[in-house]
Amino acid sequence: MNERTIQASSSPHWIDRCQIGDATLYLGDCREILPTLPRVDAVITDPPYGMGDKLSGSGSGRWKKLYVEKGGFSWDQEAPQEVVELLLKADKAIIWGGNFFELPPSRAWLVWNKIIRNFSTSVCELAWTNLDRPVDAFDYSHGQLATEGKHHPTQKPLPLMKWCVDRVGDAAVILDPFMGSGSTGVAAIQMGRKFIGIEREPKYFDIACRRIEDAQRQESLFEPEAPKAEQTALFGSEVA
Ligand SMILES: C[S@@+](CC[C@H](N)C(=O)[O-])C[C@H]1O[C@@H](n2cnc3c(N)ncnc32)[C@H](O)[C@@H]1O
Repeated sequence: MNERTIQASSSPHWIDRCQIGDATLYLGDCREILPTLPRVDAVITDPPYGMGDKLSGSGSGRWKKLYVEKGGFSWDQEAPQEVVELLLKADKAIIWGGNFFELPPSRAWLVWNKIIRNFSTSVCELAWTNLDRPVDAFDYSHGQLATEGKHHPTQKPLPLMKWCVDRVGDAAVILDPFMGSGSTGVAAIQMGRKFIGIEREPKYFDIACRRIEDAQRQESLFEPEAPKAEQTALFGSEVA
């Protein structure tokens, strides 16, 4: 069984840090935390892209309600282009919604084919990558998310995120600086990788901690010995 350790901090970079087995989760703003992190092998992320203002048509009111009011998080109107540029420097990077940012040409766009069409969401979503491989597509019904448990208004399906983890090869440490409900982290842990996640909304940070703790517990059932929980510094600014 893993232990979850959450400690208040006077660090200027993060509000809380939670170490759950192979996952290190930060509550805070990734713009402040990212420059303090050690090198990671791969970034797999799904940043907000200020869609609230870009939506048009009859679905827009419904989506704004869902994201901003029911979702309970402050939506960045401006895309965090400066963060995305930092993430491009990772050896391997997969950035969902990459078509909303100014990014270099890519050989290997990834396509999530949502299979079902409806009038308010897109038929596909695109991820920019810096991977040296052909364009690839993943078919997965958007509707199936309901059966996985819906934790976040823009939650990515777990099978999709596991497919992404597979695409970054043997990357040992995976970072998601916009982790939301922690789908990338669950996929990473289930596939035996270390994970670093950042989320600035406490509600989603707590959900991510719980989901990743569950994933870690499931994994440890198959391990000979459960990993020891790590102690984090009470007031330290050291990271991961
Ligand atoms: C598109 S959602 C990610 C959803 C996630 N893929 C999932 O499956 O749950 C983007 C998340 O980034 C968070 N976020 C936005 N700006 C942030 C920032 N500057 N630092 C950290 N998190 C941020 C939002 O609160 C939101 O939960």
